Amino acid sequence: MKSAVNEIRAVEAAHLQFDVARWREDFPILKQTVHGKPLVYLDNAATSQKPASVIDCENRYYTTLNANVHRGIHDLSQRATDAFEAAREKVRAFINAADTKEIVFTRGTTEAINLVAQSYGRSRFKAGDEILVTEMEHHSNIVPWQLLCEQTGARLCVAPIDDAGMLRMDKLEALVNPRTRLVAIAHVSNALGTVNPVRRIIDLAHAVGAPVLVDGAQAAPHLNVDVRALDCDFYTFSGHKLYGPTGIGVLYGKAALLDAMPPYQGGGDMISRVTFEKTSYNALPFKFEAGTPNIAGTIGLAAAIDYVEAIGLDAIAAHENDLLDYATRRADELPGLTQIGTARDKASILSFTLEGIHPHEIGTILDHRGIAIRTGHHCAMPVMDHFGVPATARASFALYNTRSEVDALIEGVREVQALFGQ
Ligand SMILES: Cc1ncc(COP(=O)(O)O)c(C=O)c1O
Repeated sequence: MKSAVNEIRAVEAAHLQFDVARWREDFPILKQTVHGKPLVYLDNAATSQKPASVIDCENRYYTTLNANVHRGIHDLSQRATDAFEAAREKVRAFINAADTKEIVFTRGTTEAINLVAQSYGRSRFKAGDEILVTEMEHHSNIVPWQLLCEQTGARLCVAPIDDAGMLRMDKLEALVNPRTRLVAIAHVSNALGTVNPVRRIIDLAHAVGAPVLVDGAQAAPHLNVDVRALDCDFYTFSGHKLYGPTGIGVLYGKAALLDAMPPYQGGGDMISRVTFEKTSYNALPFKFEAGTPNIAGTIGLAAAIDYVEAIGLDAIAAHENDLLDYATRRADELPGLTQIGTARDKASILSFTLEGIHPHEIGTILDHRGIAIRTGHHCAMPVMDHFGVPATARASFALYNTRSEVDALIEGVREVQALFGQ
Protein backbone atom coordinates (compact mmCIF):
# COMPACT_ATOMS: atom_id res chain seq x y z
CA MET A 1 0.00 0.00 0.00
CA LYS A 2 2.78 2.34 1.03
CA SER A 3 4.66 1.76 -2.21
CA ALA A 4 1.49 2.45 -4.26
CA VAL A 5 1.05 5.77 -2.41
CA ASN A 6 4.72 6.62 -3.01
CA GLU A 7 4.30 5.79 -6.67
CA ILE A 8 1.27 8.11 -6.96
CA ARG A 9 3.23 10.88 -5.19
CA ALA A 10 6.18 10.41 -7.54
CA VAL A 11 3.89 10.64 -10.58
CA GLU A 12 2.20 13.77 -9.17
CA ALA A 13 5.58 15.34 -8.46
CA ALA A 14 6.74 14.52 -11.98
CA HIS A 15 3.65 16.23 -13.37
CA LEU A 16 4.10 19.36 -11.24
CA GLN A 17 7.70 19.71 -12.43
CA PHE A 18 6.76 19.22 -16.05
CA ASP A 19 7.87 22.34 -17.86
CA VAL A 20 5.73 22.14 -20.98
CA ALA A 21 6.66 25.67 -22.14
CA ARG A 22 10.30 24.60 -22.17
CA TRP A 23 9.63 21.39 -24.12
CA ARG A 24 7.51 23.26 -26.66
CA GLU A 25 10.57 25.36 -27.54
CA ASP A 26 12.22 22.17 -28.79
CA PHE A 27 9.63 21.71 -31.56
CA PRO A 28 10.16 24.25 -34.38
CA ILE A 29 6.94 23.33 -36.18
CA LEU A 30 4.79 24.41 -33.22
CA LYS A 31 5.79 28.05 -33.77
CA GLN A 32 3.87 28.33 -37.02
CA THR A 33 0.40 29.64 -37.65
CA VAL A 34 -2.26 27.84 -39.69
CA HIS A 35 -5.00 29.93 -41.34
CA GLY A 36 -3.57 32.85 -39.36
CA LYS A 37 -4.04 31.08 -36.00
CA PRO A 38 -1.39 29.51 -33.76
CA LEU A 39 -1.08 25.83 -34.61
CA VAL A 40 -2.78 23.57 -32.06
CA TYR A 41 -1.53 20.13 -33.04
CA LEU A 42 -3.75 17.39 -31.63
CA ASP A 43 -3.14 14.67 -34.21
CA ASN A 44 -0.32 12.96 -32.37
CA ALA A 45 -1.71 9.45 -32.63
CA ALA A 46 -1.31 9.74 -36.41
CA THR A 47 2.21 11.12 -36.12
CA SER A 48 3.94 13.28 -33.56
CA GLN A 49 6.11 16.35 -34.21
CA LYS A 50 9.90 16.18 -34.10
CA PRO A 51 12.20 18.02 -31.68
CA ALA A 52 15.14 19.98 -33.10
CA SER A 53 17.55 17.36 -31.73
CA VAL A 54 16.02 14.71 -34.02
CA ILE A 55 15.94 17.03 -37.04
CA ASP A 56 19.54 18.11 -36.39
CA CYS A 57 20.64 14.54 -35.96
CA GLU A 58 19.35 13.55 -39.40
CA ASN A 59 20.86 16.69 -40.88
CA ARG A 60 24.22 15.92 -39.23
CA TYR A 61 24.11 12.39 -40.54
CA TYR A 62 23.76 13.59 -44.14
CA THR A 63 26.30 16.39 -43.76
CA THR A 64 29.00 14.44 -41.91
CA LEU A 65 28.42 10.69 -41.92
CA ASN A 66 26.49 9.51 -44.96
CA ALA A 67 27.76 6.15 -46.25
CA ASN A 68 26.28 2.71 -46.63
CA VAL A 69 26.48 0.48 -43.56
CA HIS A 70 27.98 -2.96 -42.95
CA ARG A 71 29.82 -3.11 -46.27
CA GLY A 72 32.54 -0.50 -46.42
CA ILE A 73 36.11 -0.64 -45.22
CA HIS A 74 36.43 3.13 -45.43
CA ASP A 75 36.16 5.47 -42.47
CA LEU A 76 32.77 7.00 -43.27
CA SER A 77 31.14 3.62 -43.74
CA GLN A 78 32.56 2.38 -40.47
CA ARG A 79 31.36 5.45 -38.60
CA ALA A 80 27.90 5.20 -40.19
CA THR A 81 27.80 1.51 -39.20
CA ASP A 82 28.84 2.35 -35.64
CA ALA A 83 26.08 4.96 -35.36
CA PHE A 84 23.53 2.58 -36.91
CA GLU A 85 24.43 -0.24 -34.53
CA ALA A 86 24.54 2.16 -31.57
CA ALA A 87 20.93 3.02 -32.44
CA ARG A 88 20.07 -0.67 -32.24
CA GLU A 89 21.58 -0.83 -28.76
CA LYS A 90 19.59 2.28 -27.81
CA VAL A 91 16.34 0.60 -28.91
CA ARG A 92 17.30 -2.61 -27.09
CA ALA A 93 17.77 -0.75 -23.83
CA PHE A 94 14.61 1.36 -24.41
CA ILE A 95 12.39 -1.75 -24.42
CA ASN A 96 14.68 -3.86 -22.21
CA ALA A 97 15.26 -6.61 -24.77
CA ALA A 98 17.89 -9.18 -23.83
CA ASP A 99 20.08 -8.76 -26.92
CA THR A 100 20.50 -6.48 -29.94
CA LYS A 101 19.97 -9.49 -32.21
CA GLU A 102 16.33 -9.34 -31.12
CA ILE A 103 15.92 -5.84 -32.60
CA VAL A 104 15.00 -5.79 -36.29
CA PHE A 105 14.65 -2.43 -38.03
CA THR A 106 11.62 -2.15 -40.32
CA ARG A 107 9.78 0.67 -42.08
CA GLY A 108 7.28 0.82 -39.23
CA THR A 109 4.74 -1.17 -37.26
CA THR A 110 2.88 -2.24 -40.40
CA GLU A 111 5.93 -3.81 -41.97
CA ALA A 112 6.92 -5.45 -38.67
CA ILE A 113 3.52 -7.16 -38.37
CA ASN A 114 3.58 -8.27 -42.01
CA LEU A 115 7.06 -9.68 -41.41
CA VAL A 116 5.84 -11.83 -38.53
CA ALA A 117 2.69 -12.92 -40.39
CA GLN A 118 4.62 -14.04 -43.44
CA SER A 119 7.82 -15.31 -41.87
CA TYR A 120 6.46 -16.86 -38.68
CA GLY A 121 3.00 -17.85 -39.83
CA ARG A 122 3.19 -18.85 -43.47
CA SER A 123 5.44 -21.86 -43.04
CA ARG A 124 3.76 -23.05 -39.84
CA PHE A 125 0.02 -22.46 -39.96
CA LYS A 126 -2.51 -24.74 -41.63
CA ALA A 127 -6.27 -25.24 -41.94
CA GLY A 128 -7.86 -25.50 -38.51
CA ASP A 129 -5.30 -23.26 -36.81
CA GLU A 130 -6.58 -20.06 -35.20
CA ILE A 131 -5.12 -16.57 -35.00
CA LEU A 132 -6.71 -14.42 -32.31
CA VAL A 133 -7.01 -10.65 -32.60
CA THR A 134 -9.38 -8.17 -30.97
CA GLU A 135 -12.18 -6.01 -32.28
CA MET A 136 -10.20 -2.84 -31.51
CA GLU A 137 -7.20 -3.56 -33.75
CA HIS A 138 -5.78 -1.14 -36.31
CA HIS A 139 -6.09 -2.48 -39.87
CA SER A 140 -2.32 -3.11 -39.74
CA ASN A 141 -3.01 -5.78 -37.12
CA ILE A 142 -5.95 -7.31 -39.01
CA VAL A 143 -5.19 -7.40 -42.73
CA PRO A 144 -1.75 -9.13 -42.53
CA TRP A 145 -3.46 -11.96 -40.59
CA GLN A 146 -6.33 -12.13 -43.09
CA LEU A 147 -3.80 -12.48 -45.91
CA LEU A 148 -2.10 -15.24 -43.93
CA CYS A 149 -5.45 -16.99 -43.39
CA GLU A 150 -6.10 -16.92 -47.15
CA GLN A 151 -2.66 -18.40 -47.77
CA THR A 152 -2.75 -21.13 -45.11
CA GLY A 153 -6.41 -21.91 -44.39
CA ALA A 154 -6.05 -20.71 -40.79
CA ARG A 155 -9.00 -18.92 -39.21
CA LEU A 156 -9.11 -15.38 -37.79
CA CYS A 157 -10.90 -15.21 -34.42
CA VAL A 158 -11.91 -11.90 -32.88
CA ALA A 159 -12.23 -11.07 -29.17
CA PRO A 160 -15.02 -8.48 -28.80
CA ILE A 161 -15.01 -5.19 -26.90
CA ASP A 162 -17.72 -3.71 -24.69
CA ASP A 163 -19.42 -0.34 -25.10
CA ALA A 164 -16.75 1.43 -23.07
CA GLY A 165 -14.18 0.17 -25.58
CA MET A 166 -12.67 -2.35 -23.16
CA LEU A 167 -11.76 -5.87 -24.12
CA ARG A 168 -14.29 -8.53 -23.05
CA MET A 169 -11.72 -10.57 -21.16
CA ASP A 170 -14.27 -13.32 -20.43
CA LYS A 171 -14.82 -13.77 -24.18
CA LEU A 172 -11.14 -13.54 -24.97
CA GLU A 173 -10.37 -16.18 -22.36
CA ALA A 174 -12.96 -18.49 -23.92
CA LEU A 175 -11.46 -17.97 -27.38
CA VAL A 176 -7.94 -19.00 -26.32
CA ASN A 177 -7.73 -22.76 -26.90
CA PRO A 178 -5.27 -25.41 -28.09
CA ARG A 179 -5.96 -24.47 -31.74
CA THR A 180 -4.79 -20.89 -31.06
CA ARG A 181 -1.46 -20.55 -32.84
CA LEU A 182 -0.86 -16.84 -32.31
CA VAL A 183 -2.44 -13.90 -30.48
CA ALA A 184 -1.97 -10.38 -31.89
CA ILE A 185 -3.16 -7.45 -29.76
CA ALA A 186 -2.77 -3.70 -29.51
CA HIS A 187 -1.08 -2.50 -26.35
CA VAL A 188 -3.03 0.78 -26.69
CA SER A 189 -5.95 1.27 -29.13
CA ASN A 190 -5.46 4.12 -31.60
CA ALA A 191 -9.21 4.68 -32.04
CA LEU A 192 -10.26 4.49 -28.38
CA GLY A 193 -7.17 5.03 -26.26
CA THR A 194 -7.85 1.83 -24.30
CA VAL A 195 -4.79 0.35 -22.60
CA ASN A 196 -5.10 -3.42 -22.77
CA PRO A 197 -4.09 -5.86 -20.00
CA VAL A 198 -1.42 -7.35 -22.26
CA ARG A 199 0.49 -9.15 -19.52
CA ARG A 200 -2.63 -11.13 -18.57
CA ILE A 201 -3.38 -11.94 -22.20
CA ILE A 202 0.19 -13.12 -22.73
CA ASP A 203 -0.12 -15.49 -19.76
CA LEU A 204 -3.40 -16.89 -21.16
CA ALA A 205 -1.86 -17.42 -24.62
CA HIS A 206 1.30 -18.98 -23.26
CA ALA A 207 -0.77 -21.44 -21.24
CA VAL A 208 -1.86 -22.98 -24.58
CA GLY A 209 1.58 -22.56 -26.17
CA ALA A 210 0.61 -19.63 -28.43
CA PRO A 211 3.09 -16.78 -28.95
CA VAL A 212 1.87 -13.19 -28.64
CA LEU A 213 2.57 -10.22 -30.87
CA VAL A 214 1.92 -6.86 -29.20
CA ASP A 215 1.25 -3.91 -31.51
CA GLY A 216 2.91 -1.13 -29.53
CA ALA A 217 2.49 1.69 -32.08
CA GLN A 218 0.39 3.75 -29.65
CA ALA A 219 2.07 2.51 -26.48
CA ALA A 220 5.75 3.26 -27.07
CA PRO A 221 5.26 7.08 -26.96
CA HIS A 222 3.25 6.98 -23.72
CA LEU A 223 4.20 3.98 -21.57
CA ASN A 224 7.39 2.39 -20.31
CA VAL A 225 7.69 -0.79 -22.34
CA ASP A 226 9.62 -3.72 -20.91
CA VAL A 227 9.41 -6.67 -23.28
CA ARG A 228 11.02 -9.03 -20.79
CA ALA A 229 8.62 -8.12 -17.99
CA LEU A 230 5.72 -8.51 -20.43
CA ASP A 231 7.21 -11.78 -21.73
CA CYS A 232 5.74 -10.99 -25.17
CA ASP A 233 7.14 -12.90 -28.11
CA PHE A 234 7.01 -10.03 -30.60
CA TYR A 235 6.63 -6.28 -30.01
CA THR A 236 6.31 -3.66 -32.74
CA PHE A 237 6.40 0.13 -32.86
CA SER A 238 6.99 3.05 -35.24
CA GLY A 239 9.56 5.82 -34.88
CA HIS A 240 7.31 8.57 -36.22
CA LYS A 241 4.80 8.32 -33.37
CA LEU A 242 7.66 8.54 -30.86
CA TYR A 243 8.94 11.97 -31.98
CA GLY A 244 11.25 10.22 -34.45
CA PRO A 245 11.45 10.10 -38.26
CA THR A 246 8.99 8.45 -40.61
CA GLY A 247 9.96 5.26 -42.41
CA ILE A 248 11.64 3.62 -39.42
CA GLY A 249 10.16 1.10 -37.02
CA VAL A 250 11.09 -1.79 -34.83
CA LEU A 251 10.26 -5.44 -34.58
CA TYR A 252 11.35 -7.05 -31.33
CA GLY A 253 11.28 -10.83 -31.37
CA LYS A 254 12.57 -13.41 -28.93
CA ALA A 255 15.86 -14.68 -30.37
CA ALA A 256 14.79 -18.34 -30.44
CA LEU A 257 11.68 -17.48 -32.48
CA LEU A 258 13.48 -15.16 -34.91
CA ASP A 259 16.24 -17.72 -35.34
CA ALA A 260 13.77 -20.38 -36.42
CA MET A 261 11.97 -18.09 -38.89
CA PRO A 262 12.83 -17.92 -42.60
CA PRO A 263 13.82 -14.53 -44.09
CA TYR A 264 11.01 -12.15 -45.03
CA GLN A 265 12.68 -10.51 -48.03
CA GLY A 266 15.75 -11.45 -50.03
CA GLY A 267 18.56 -9.11 -51.05
CA GLY A 268 21.79 -7.56 -49.88
CA ASP A 269 22.89 -7.71 -46.23
CA MET A 270 20.60 -10.62 -45.29
CA ILE A 271 22.87 -13.32 -46.73
CA SER A 272 26.11 -14.94 -45.62
CA ARG A 273 26.86 -16.66 -48.96
CA VAL A 274 25.12 -16.74 -52.32
CA THR A 275 25.58 -19.25 -55.12
CA PHE A 276 23.08 -20.17 -57.82
CA GLU A 277 22.71 -23.57 -56.16
CA LYS A 278 22.09 -22.38 -52.60
CA THR A 279 22.08 -19.27 -50.46
CA SER A 280 22.77 -19.24 -46.75
CA TYR A 281 21.50 -16.45 -44.57
CA ASN A 282 23.11 -13.91 -42.31
CA ALA A 283 22.91 -14.04 -38.51
CA LEU A 284 20.21 -12.22 -36.54
CA PRO A 285 19.02 -9.53 -36.87
CA PHE A 286 20.52 -8.96 -40.35
CA LYS A 287 18.67 -11.97 -41.78
CA PHE A 288 15.56 -9.77 -41.66
CA GLU A 289 17.11 -6.56 -42.96
CA ALA A 290 17.41 -6.99 -46.73
CA GLY A 291 18.71 -4.03 -48.71
CA THR A 292 20.05 -0.66 -47.65
CA PRO A 293 18.22 0.30 -44.46
CA ASN A 294 16.87 3.71 -43.45
CA ILE A 295 20.20 4.70 -41.88
CA ALA A 296 19.34 8.35 -41.21
CA GLY A 297 15.95 7.35 -39.81
CA THR A 298 17.47 4.77 -37.51
CA ILE A 299 19.95 7.26 -36.09
CA GLY A 300 17.12 9.81 -35.82
CA LEU A 301 15.06 7.27 -33.87
CA ALA A 302 17.92 6.91 -31.40
CA ALA A 303 17.93 10.71 -30.98
CA ALA A 304 14.17 10.61 -30.34
CA ILE A 305 14.64 7.96 -27.66
CA ASP A 306 17.35 10.12 -26.08
CA TYR A 307 14.90 13.00 -26.10
CA VAL A 308 12.01 11.21 -24.37
CA GLU A 309 14.36 9.53 -21.91
CA ALA A 310 15.85 12.89 -20.94
CA ILE A 311 12.37 14.14 -20.03
CA GLY A 312 11.28 10.75 -18.67
CA LEU A 313 8.40 8.62 -19.88
CA ASP A 314 6.77 8.67 -16.42
CA ALA A 315 6.74 12.47 -16.43
CA ILE A 316 5.42 12.52 -20.00
CA ALA A 317 2.69 10.02 -19.09
CA ALA A 318 1.68 12.03 -16.02
CA HIS A 319 1.40 15.19 -18.12
CA GLU A 320 -0.60 13.48 -20.85
CA ASN A 321 -2.90 11.81 -18.32
CA ASP A 322 -3.60 15.21 -16.82
CA LEU A 323 -4.47 16.56 -20.29
CA LEU A 324 -6.69 13.58 -21.03
CA ASP A 325 -8.53 13.89 -17.68
CA TYR A 326 -9.02 17.60 -18.25
CA ALA A 327 -10.18 17.15 -21.86
CA THR A 328 -12.54 14.33 -20.84
CA ARG A 329 -14.15 16.52 -18.16
CA ARG A 330 -14.46 19.52 -20.47
CA ALA A 331 -15.89 17.41 -23.30
CA ASP A 332 -18.47 16.01 -20.88
CA GLU A 333 -19.80 19.57 -20.40
CA LEU A 334 -20.85 19.77 -24.05
CA PRO A 335 -24.42 18.65 -24.78
CA GLY A 336 -24.65 16.58 -27.96
CA LEU A 337 -21.09 15.28 -27.63
CA THR A 338 -20.61 11.54 -27.20
CA GLN A 339 -17.23 10.19 -26.22
CA ILE A 340 -16.27 6.98 -28.00
CA GLY A 341 -13.95 5.00 -25.78
CA THR A 342 -14.40 5.45 -22.05
CA ALA A 343 -12.26 2.62 -20.74
CA ARG A 344 -10.95 2.85 -17.17
CA ASP A 345 -7.35 2.67 -18.36
CA LYS A 346 -6.73 5.02 -21.27
CA ALA A 347 -3.80 6.82 -22.87
CA SER A 348 -3.86 10.20 -24.59
CA ILE A 349 -6.85 9.80 -26.91
CA LEU A 350 -10.22 11.58 -26.90
CA SER A 351 -12.51 10.25 -29.63
CA PHE A 352 -15.97 11.75 -30.00
CA THR A 353 -18.98 12.37 -32.20
CA LEU A 354 -21.39 15.33 -32.27
CA GLU A 355 -25.08 14.74 -32.75
CA GLY A 356 -26.14 15.60 -36.32
CA ILE A 357 -22.69 16.77 -37.47
CA HIS A 358 -20.32 14.63 -39.52
CA PRO A 359 -16.81 14.38 -38.05
CA HIS A 360 -15.32 15.70 -41.31
CA GLU A 361 -17.27 18.95 -40.78
CA ILE A 362 -15.84 19.15 -37.27
CA GLY A 363 -12.31 18.62 -38.58
CA THR A 364 -12.68 21.19 -41.34
CA ILE A 365 -14.06 23.92 -39.08
CA LEU A 366 -11.45 23.26 -36.40
CA ASP A 367 -8.72 23.38 -39.05
CA HIS A 368 -9.80 26.94 -39.85
CA ARG A 369 -9.08 27.77 -36.22
CA GLY A 370 -5.59 26.26 -36.54
CA ILE A 371 -6.59 23.12 -34.65
CA ALA A 372 -5.42 19.84 -36.19
CA ILE A 373 -7.39 16.78 -35.18
CA ARG A 374 -8.07 13.55 -37.08
CA THR A 375 -11.48 12.61 -38.39
CA GLY A 376 -12.44 9.35 -40.03
CA HIS A 377 -12.32 5.66 -39.21
CA HIS A 378 -8.72 5.83 -37.92
CA CYS A 379 -7.87 2.61 -39.79
CA ALA A 380 -10.09 0.79 -37.31
CA MET A 381 -13.33 0.23 -39.24
CA PRO A 382 -14.47 -2.65 -36.99
CA VAL A 383 -14.38 -0.22 -34.03
CA MET A 384 -16.60 2.20 -35.98
CA ASP A 385 -18.97 -0.70 -36.77
CA HIS A 386 -19.11 -1.65 -33.09
CA PHE A 387 -20.23 1.84 -32.13
CA GLY A 388 -22.48 2.20 -35.18
CA VAL A 389 -20.75 5.34 -36.48
CA PRO A 390 -19.04 5.96 -39.83
CA ALA A 391 -16.27 8.00 -38.25
CA THR A 392 -15.23 9.90 -35.14
CA ALA A 393 -13.30 13.07 -34.40
CA ARG A 394 -10.12 12.26 -32.49
CA ALA A 395 -7.88 14.57 -30.48
CA SER A 396 -4.67 12.92 -29.31
CA PHE A 397 -2.15 14.42 -26.92
CA ALA A 398 1.63 14.54 -26.79
CA LEU A 399 4.17 15.87 -24.32
CA TYR A 400 4.06 19.40 -25.80
CA ASN A 401 0.29 19.92 -25.56
CA THR A 402 -1.25 22.19 -22.95
CA ARG A 403 -4.50 22.70 -21.08
CA SER A 404 -5.03 25.93 -23.01
CA GLU A 405 -4.90 23.91 -26.23
CA VAL A 406 -7.60 21.66 -24.78
CA ASP A 407 -9.60 24.85 -24.07
CA ALA A 408 -9.10 25.91 -27.69
CA LEU A 409 -10.41 22.53 -28.83
CA ILE A 410 -13.50 22.78 -26.64
CA GLU A 411 -14.17 26.36 -27.77
CA GLY A 412 -13.76 25.21 -31.37
CA VAL A 413 -16.25 22.39 -30.88
CA ARG A 414 -18.74 24.86 -29.35
CA GLU A 415 -18.32 27.01 -32.46
CA VAL A 416 -18.97 24.00 -34.70
CA GLN A 417 -22.19 23.34 -32.81
CA ALA A 418 -23.18 27.00 -33.02
CA LEU A 419 -22.58 27.03 -36.79
CA PHE A 420 -24.97 24.09 -37.05
CA GLY A 421 -27.55 25.98 -35.03
CA GLN A 422 -27.07 23.95 -31.85
C1 LIG B 1 -2.32 0.79 -33.11
C2 LIG B 1 -1.62 1.01 -34.41
N1 LIG B 1 -1.07 -0.04 -35.03
C3 LIG B 1 -0.41 0.11 -36.20
C4 LIG B 1 -0.29 1.32 -36.81
C5 LIG B 1 0.46 1.44 -38.10
O1 LIG B 1 1.63 2.16 -37.90
P1 LIG B 1 2.54 2.60 -39.14
O2 LIG B 1 1.62 3.28 -40.11
O3 LIG B 1 3.55 3.51 -38.55
O4 LIG B 1 3.12 1.35 -39.72
C6 LIG B 1 -0.85 2.45 -36.21
C7 LIG B 1 -0.80 3.78 -36.86
O5 LIG B 1 -1.62 4.62 -36.64
C8 LIG B 1 -1.53 2.28 -34.97
O6 LIG B 1 -2.08 3.32 -34.34
